[in-house]
Amino acid sequence: MSKSVEALFSAAREAYDNAYAPYSKFPVGAAVLTSDGEIFSGSNVENAAYPQGWCAETSALAAMVRAGRRRVAEVCVVGGGTGLCTPCGGCRQKLREFAGPDTPIHVAGPDGVRARFTLAELLPKSFGPENLG
Ligand code: THU
Repeated sequence: MSKSVEALFSAAREAYDNAYAPYSKFPVGAAVLTSDGEIFSGSNVENAAYPQGWCAETSALAAMVRAGRRRVAEVCVVGGGTGLCTPCGGCRQKLREFAGPDTPIHVAGPDGVRARFTLAELLPKSFGPENLG
C-alpha cells in the first residue's frame, strides 16, 4: 500500500470502528482524500426508522464540504463480510459531484484493501454538474 492509501485506509478503518449500525450489523467507514491533501472520514449512521439511515461515504463527504473542500482525489471504503463493500448507487452519484472519472476508489475489508476501481468504472456515463450546462 502506498503511504497515501495507507493513511486513507486507516482513517476509513477508524470510521468503520465507530459506525452506528445496530440494525444491519454492517458497519462501514469511508475516507476521502482532498486535492489539497486533507483526509475526511465518516461512518454509516442508522436509526430505528430503517430507511432514514445514511451511508459512510455520505458522512465523509459532508465532513469534507463542511470544512470548505470541494475536490476528492481518492476514496477508501471499509466494510465487513466476505464480499466487496463497493459504494451503493446513491453514494456513487454523491462522489461523482466532487470527484473525476479517474478518481481511485479503494474497496477494503477491516484488514486491508481488497480491490480498486475508478469512479467511471463504478458509474459509467454518469450525470454531473457539467450536464446541467
Ligand atoms: N452502506 C454504506 O455505508 N455504504 C455503502 O456504500 C454501502 C452500504 C451501509 C448502509 C447501511 O447502514 C449498511 O451499510 C447496510 O446496507
